[in-house]
Amino acid sequence: MLERTLAILKPDCIRKNLIGKVISHIEEAGFKIVALKMLKLTPEQAKAFYYVHREKPFYSDLVNFMTSDKVVVMVLEKENAVNDFRELIGATDPKEAKEGTIRKLYADNKQENIVHGSDSPENAKIEISFFFPESELIANQM
Ligand code: PPS
Repeated sequence: MLERTLAILKPDCIRKNLIGKVISHIEEAGFKIVALKMLKLTPEQAKAFYYVHREKPFYSDLVNFMTSDKVVVMVLEKENAVNDFRELIGATDPKEAKEGTIRKLYADNKQENIVHGSDSPENAKIEISFFFPESELIANQM
């Protein structure tokens, strides 16, 4: 069963010129890119996307960081995409991330950690629809 997840290449990834390298990791791990776009989140969009964290002490820092530069949002597809993508990117804190994961390789800290991945299939559906209308989710040819 193919599954989809949402990935965001965060502002630090864009500033470090790592878009291509990170996408190479993602494709080499067997993910197909279903949809992709670059945009600059508005404060309202960032607040809404991270609403679940609104009570956390880092919420305003997170919103400021995510609106500090452009991001690349992508819908990725493979079997077990949500969990496999979380494995590929590694722990939120790069100090705790396993060797070879994207965050271990490229991230600086819990905020500037290069990439976001949906944390459950339910949230993946919500997050995908946050950025992509159904008309932009064109199935890949097998
Ligand atoms: S929590 O508290 O366990 O639910 O949070 P966590 O999963 O570790 O992180 C949720 C997202 O918040 C970002 N984050 C931070 N941003 C700024 N400052 C600090 N201290 C901080 N800690 C966590 C983290 O990168 C997560 O972003 P996403 O986009 O969900 O990966």
